Amino acid sequence: MVNEESLLNSTEIVGEPPYQFVKYLDRSVIREHVRALAARMANDFRDKNPVFVGVLRGCFVFMADLVREVNIPCEIDFIKISSYGNGMRAGRIEMKKEVGVDLRDRHVILVDDIVDTGNSWDFLRNHLLEKRPASVTMASMFRKPEAIQSNIPVDYVGMDLPNEFVVGYGLDHAGQWRQLPDLYILKNE
Ligand code: PRP
Repeated sequence: MVNEESLLNSTEIVGEPPYQFVKYLDRSVIREHVRALAARMANDFRDKNPVFVGVLRGCFVFMADLVREVNIPCEIDFIKISSYGNGMRAGRIEMKKEVGVDLRDRHVILVDDIVDTGNSWDFLRNHLLEKRPASVTMASMFRKPEAIQSNIPVDYVGMDLPNEFVVGYGLDHAGQWRQLPDLYILKNE
């Protein structure tokens, strides 16, 4: 009988050229880093009842894993901004879905799947600071140090990546591949 789980585990390459992606990080490695990050965060926010604000859509896998590992009293909400092309300035980003929780005097933890240029983080940090929270902290599963244009540090980073296109664990290419449990990287021909 075919074991569906082992079939899923054996998928090393997805997609068709020129957008073929090869497995880069196994889910077990990602999980170890989520756990390490969550342990630090639990220690720092244990008595603060923070509000985790996930940045849709890419955050959804990391957000679910992170809040269950941190496992402290907290609230959960989401925010969504428009995607943008290369070179668009942070000031041109549009708000698509606003947070619902009143953030005044609250400790806010912004959760994203990846910090690439850092423009989204810049925009969202300024946007959230207008709501007069007690603090705004940024947590991202991945970061591409070579791509960052912003000089505002990311407080909690799961793992640094090379400046290559990646999919899986919530990240997409043309809307596809977010559901992959592992992280895949664009295959160079
Ligand atoms: C991705 C990602 C981050 C942002 C990072 O979202 O989820 O939010 O880009 O890029 P930056 O650091 O260059 O601003 P995207 O706009 O692709 O939308 P999605 O979450 O719906 O995939």
